[in-house]
Amino acid sequence: MTVSSAPGKVYLFGEHAVVYGEPAVPCAVERRATVSVSARDDDHVRVRAEDLSLNGFTVEYSGSTGNHPDVDVPTPLVEAAMGYIDAAVAQARDAADAPDAGFDITVKSDIPLGAGLGSSAAVVVAGIDAATRELGVELSPREIADRAYRAEHEVQDGQASRADTFCSAMGGAVRVEGDDCRTIDAPPLPFVIGFDGGAGDTGALVSGVRALREEYDFAADTVSTIGDIVRRGEDLLADADPEEPSEALLSELGRFMNFNHGLLEALGVSSRSLDSMVWAAREAGAYGAKLTGAGGGGCIVALDPTPETQTALRFTPGCEDAFRAELATEGVRVEE
Ligand code: MEV
Repeated sequence: MTVSSAPGKVYLFGEHAVVYGEPAVPCAVERRATVSVSARDDDHVRVRAEDLSLNGFTVEYSGSTGNHPDVDVPTPLVEAAMGYIDAAVAQARDAADAPDAGFDITVKSDIPLGAGLGSSAAVVVAGIDAATRELGVELSPREIADRAYRAEHEVQDGQASRADTFCSAMGGAVRVEGDDCRTIDAPPLPFVIGFDGGAGDTGALVSGVRALREEYDFAADTVSTIGDIVRRGEDLLADADPEEPSEALLSELGRFMNFNHGLLEALGVSSRSLDSMVWAAREAGAYGAKLTGAGGGGCIVALDPTPETQTALRFTPGCEDAFRAELATEGVRVEE
């Protein structure tokens, strides 16, 4: 059996705009998906999932991926999770040139599903790593990122950027602009996450922004303005002390996070609960706050080194959980 894990992420800046070639800066956080894979003697794939913010489920199928004749799919979220696992299996089979390889797969995750923390990317990245190793093939984190991107791209109907998968595979803070993906230096930022208990439909949200951008110049301008904010944020990080964030840095980053959230709201991807949590964080003294990921529901990320934001979020209507998230310096890794 091979066990691999990969971290989730928050977007410091740039979700949605990254789909149109603007830069984005996601940061990996210490919430991980862990995927255990055992090769089988036949071509069956059996998947057990636990802790996916939904009732655990077991799915078994045989032959080619994408076809689950015996599955009683309990929720759309499980269906979505299965799509990502299928796509990871297909990538692992392709990488190992083993089209009929079968696997027993167990997925555990402490990343809320579909909530903007990169749960699907983390499952795909860890799944490809564990399944290829199980077949005797060791891919570099960059190769895993590339294959995971292809898997996500397929599941999301060609609308995924490389940001989530690259960040999860490499860890730390990264910068993604089209196909240009790099790791960058960032100090340990005091992330606080608020979760409304819900999830957004990434495909539908990305399609919504695409339609808006095609119809209205203001939306196209909003997308490129997000790109400007990302570039300003990157400059701040490039000039920062990588060991310790200064007050001035946090304050400037927070300001740009606030701008970024306002622009995402203009693009229609925020929600009442996300806005309530963003405002609760700001009122509690956070340097800045914004939604993270596709939006529509799920998580916000705030910058606050004090316990105030976390406490305030816990008492905010619409917030189900609030927690601190450390920057995950390690990306995909094998667990002992
Ligand atoms: C989703 O986590 C982030 C989006 O920018 C989509 C993507 O980059 O693939 C909304």
